[in-house]
Amino acid sequence: MTFDLLARDPATKARAGLLHTAHGAIETPIFMPVGTAGTVKAVSQQVLRTDVQAQIILGNTYHLYLRPGLEVLQAAGGLHRFNGWDGPILTDSGGYQVFSLSNTRKIKEEGVTFRSHVDGSKHLFTPEGVMDIQRVIGADIIMAFDECTPWPCEYDYARRSLDLTHRWLQRCIQRFDATEGLYGFEQNLFPIVQGSTFKDLRVQSAEFVAAQGRAGNAIGGLSVGEPAELMYEMTELVCDILPADKPRYLMGVGTPANILENIALGVDMFDCVMPTRNARNGMLFTTQGIVNITNKKWATDFTPIDPSLPGVASTFYSRAYLRHLFQCKELLGPQIASAHNLAFYLWLVREARTQIVAGTFGPWKDRMVQQVMTRL
Ligand code: GUN
Repeated sequence: MTFDLLARDPATKARAGLLHTAHGAIETPIFMPVGTAGTVKAVSQQVLRTDVQAQIILGNTYHLYLRPGLEVLQAAGGLHRFNGWDGPILTDSGGYQVFSLSNTRKIKEEGVTFRSHVDGSKHLFTPEGVMDIQRVIGADIIMAFDECTPWPCEYDYARRSLDLTHRWLQRCIQRFDATEGLYGFEQNLFPIVQGSTFKDLRVQSAEFVAAQGRAGNAIGGLSVGEPAELMYEMTELVCDILPADKPRYLMGVGTPANILENIALGVDMFDCVMPTRNARNGMLFTTQGIVNITNKKWATDFTPIDPSLPGVASTFYSRAYLRHLFQCKELLGPQIASAHNLAFYLWLVREARTQIVAGTFGPWKDRMVQQVMTRL
């Protein structure tokens, strides 16, 4: 995997790059739609390609390991073959989902024991096991096994958790480097910086992660309830330490404003359930601002959802029709809304990239942060 840094914005720390994977190149900054169980909820692979213009999608180790399970995934020849998405895929390690989803979980040096949220069965995730599982799933980019600390978090807990995450990282690297991909293409392991919102821990973690010399690096443990200003402070601190010639991935972020502000601090990759989850609840992000489609005010608005975006979902269906679909709980409603929101997120990062290359990102970002967060 290689990363070409193509441009830097003069007024901010934003960068434009090209990340080459075994399943194609990714233009950065990029937003990665979340496809938890091997599917981006309510959006087909075809729509992801055409309307959304997605370049890479996410999968979750935790969900895929529980269902359909490793036997099915390996028999299929990996996740790309199984779900028909032949572009780049990234899988999260389960280090986050185990904490947010499973019923009872116990953290030990060895790993994490948990009960499945599906059937209550008992499982153990270890750094080595999670590397092996992600080899079977076969994503292009796989994530280290970490503990995402809750916020707020006592300093002592954050420090002990960070030390554990670093020991787990070394075990991940050892296992990953001792094994090979099952399907004849290269996989890459990204380590994850933790340290809650403590500056000294973040610095320590960023230095530890940078020293591993992997092809890309991630920042975790943010957007977990802390104020946005604190998130930006941590992101900037960490980005300034992580190598400039490798992509930086901020996990689980965020709102359109969060994404623009973090691009300005040097982040290259993002993922978040927000565009799809909020779409299913009728919240639309548009180039002009935020629309709650269930609101009565859209009942006779026959203009498209957002005519300035690419894609059928944004340009063909009216706000009035989409509102009607939501009122009737029709299945097409969440499909249109999800495709639209993702098309907006992908437009936002594409436009950010264009502005970085043109050297105009800084002032454009300040304008857009206001515009896209306005409630219509
Ligand atoms: N997704 C959002 N935040 C995190 C994190 O801190 N760790 C992992 N593994 N995934 C995440």
